Amino acid sequence: MKCLILGGAGFLGSHLTDGLLAEGYSVRVFDRPNIAKHRHFEKDEKIEWFEGDFTNRNDLVEAIKDCEIIFHFISTTLPKSSNDNPVYDVETNLIGTLRLLELARTNKVKKIIYASSGGTVYGVPNEVPIKESHTTEPICSYGITKLTIEKYLKLYHYLYGIDFCVLRIANPFGEWQRPTAAQGAVTVFLNNALKGKMITIWGDGSVVRDFVYAGDVTEALLKSIPYEGEEKVFNIGAGYGMSLKEIISEIETLLEKPVKVEFVESRSFDVKSNVLDIEKAKNELGWNPKTTFREGLKKNLSWLKTLED
Ligand SMILES: NC(=O)c1ccc[n+]([C@@H]2O[C@H](COP(=O)([O-])OP(=O)(O)OC[C@H]3O[C@@H](n4cnc5c(N)ncnc54)[C@H](O)[C@@H]3O)[C@@H](O)[C@H]2O)c1
Repeated sequence: MKCLILGGAGFLGSHLTDGLLAEGYSVRVFDRPNIAKHRHFEKDEKIEWFEGDFTNRNDLVEAIKDCEIIFHFISTTLPKSSNDNPVYDVETNLIGTLRLLELARTNKVKKIIYASSGGTVYGVPNEVPIKESHTTEPICSYGITKLTIEKYLKLYHYLYGIDFCVLRIANPFGEWQRPTAAQGAVTVFLNNALKGKMITIWGDGSVVRDFVYAGDVTEALLKSIPYEGEEKVFNIGAGYGMSLKEIISEIETLLEKPVKVEFVESRSFDVKSNVLDIEKAKNELGWNPKTTFREGLKKNLSWLKTLED
């Protein structure tokens, strides 16, 4: 079975590529031309490489041919930047996805598996852990767009029978996450600590998040391929929360040294606590995150040590 990973050269896409290849799937990766790939792709690996722009219909037409399963991992925005320019967010992510859905319909795609965001679609939680049935009141454009895409997936399933699965992913961390990016606290903190650089925390460090190892996210993605049940939307996280201060403490334990931390003013779009209830994914997909935070951190550290400055 041929799988297309849109945005497959990125962090989660690189993990999924490994997972799909290990399970014997044919993999086609679609990503922008000339980008620095997160993972090194060997010549003898059975991956088809398609370069193009998600917002260009013609590029998608070529990429989608003969693919039965599509993993949609492209996001042109981050929670913060999406509020700076919601028009761009909608034009690129939402309109781009609608074009994809139209092409999926005419190309007889079986299933679309979408990387949504457990951290933003719910907004300020009324209670934690957050179940999938929690109200959805995003406080950033990124979350509204993700949620709208979820609704369109449901519509295309209803109208045209294209199956879909939405994974509302919490805060993934692990190898191939860019250590200098604006997102991904664990990897950014760990890399700074490793290099003896200052770690900047917005707020007082009490903010709690659900950090899930990217290899475990891949397991959930793989399990959603054969899943044929009625449920379509799943929270994917570790199922427990950790504060940023606890992350710092774990890093200090792992590196066996104190790290430099500065606290700056908190950001309005950062909710105080976000922890996902993952019971539905456990029961329906038969998935369970296996990697402890400490194990994930160790793997991440080994990879970061291989990077050149
Ligand atoms: N990393 C997280 O914290 C997180 C959490 C929840 C959900 N998600 C979602 O999971 C998905 C994957 O996240 P990631 O962390 O792997 O992101 P990433 O940025 O590492 O990967 C995304 C890939 O999409 C590609 N891309 C972006 N715009 C494109 C375009 N116009 N045309 C072609 N390719 C384009 C990028 O080049 C990149 O390789 C995203 O949709 C993201 O919103 C991520």
